[in-house]
Amino acid sequence: MNIQTNERYKQIKPAYLFSEIGSRVRTYEQNNPEAKIIRMGIGDVTLPLPEVVTASMIKACEEMGHKETFRGYPPEYGYGFLRESISTHYADNNVSVDPDSVFVSDGAKSDLGNIVDILGQNRILIPDPVYPVYVDSNIMSGNNITFTNGTKENGFLPLPDAVSPEDQRASVIYLCSPNNPTGAVYDRNGLTLWVEYALKTGSLIIFDSAYEAFIADDDLPHSIYEIPGAKECAIEICSFSKFAGFTGVRCGWTVIPDNLKSGTYDLQALWKRRQATKFNGVSYPVQRAAQAALSDEGIKACLSNINYYRENARIITDLLDEKNIFYTGGKNSPYVWMECPGKTGSWDFFDLLLHKINVVGTPGEGFGMNGEGYFRLTAFGSRENTIEAAARLKDFL
Ligand code: MLT
Repeated sequence: MNIQTNERYKQIKPAYLFSEIGSRVRTYEQNNPEAKIIRMGIGDVTLPLPEVVTASMIKACEEMGHKETFRGYPPEYGYGFLRESISTHYADNNVSVDPDSVFVSDGAKSDLGNIVDILGQNRILIPDPVYPVYVDSNIMSGNNITFTNGTKENGFLPLPDAVSPEDQRASVIYLCSPNNPTGAVYDRNGLTLWVEYALKTGSLIIFDSAYEAFIADDDLPHSIYEIPGAKECAIEICSFSKFAGFTGVRCGWTVIPDNLKSGTYDLQALWKRRQATKFNGVSYPVQRAAQAALSDEGIKACLSNINYYRENARIITDLLDEKNIFYTGGKNSPYVWMECPGKTGSWDFFDLLLHKINVVGTPGEGFGMNGEGYFRLTAFGSRENTIEAAARLKDFL
């Protein structure tokens, strides 16, 4: 073949972080088939879907088998019933989001990766450490990225004052709260500072709220739209993956307020155009399942699963407290972000845990430069495995 390929792929790591981890673990497993590996790496849920959700999905599948109730292509932006349910869910939390501003998709990762399609060559501000999708998708698009440093000193929550004066101009700013990987959460004041900064500089915030359902403290914001002015400067991207256990089902959404404009360009209109061209919607049974997850009974069941994972997080953080190891997260987040003891490098620590105690986590360095020396453990495992992992860690640390 003699075609040109996207040269920018040379600037990203050859393997996606979780693919790299998966491949290292598989190699170890092949060489050590007797090892009882506990996976606390990728943030994948382990509890089954609540019955109210599966019942709705089954009913929808049944409908698809009858002429009278069969449905073909779904509406490209989502069925009205799900866009309404998402809007009502926001309203229940005192946030007003118009159903027509909600765009249903197959998950937050896709939307976070695809949003670059409607944006031009902008300055990009991304906190480091961060979910690798923001960085990789911008490199793939040829954008220049400026990092804001998340450090132990600022609790891994960089604020606009971390942006150097020469970088204080119109940018696309990525924020994730509760944060992946650090589990740190912006309070109202922190998010207000970012919204004010965005309005002042003419910037756009892309707010990833995929982990909002894990917020336990009453006063922490679940949505950027709780902050005055956010509808003039922010897109919010959320997911059913962590809230309702949909990592394998696939459903999420993006909110683009209808007054979000850059010059004469209407971002909602651009996203509609993009989705209508490149996306054919989410299947009917999945959208009915998502709607059920947002019913009163669904929310109760999903929160009960979240409480189960919270208890896992407590088991991990209790151990770190006992060992006097610094960490963030675990309380309002399914992730515990721990400092590697003895200044061990994060990939070295990954190999040590895999080889010595057969526990898999995620090396902090995979989330950026500031992740070096840190390690992420997830609370999404089974109770039994979490207790066992904590026992192994207790002996090892
Ligand atoms: C993670 O482990 O960071 C997430 O599960 C990855 C994802 O949501 O794509």
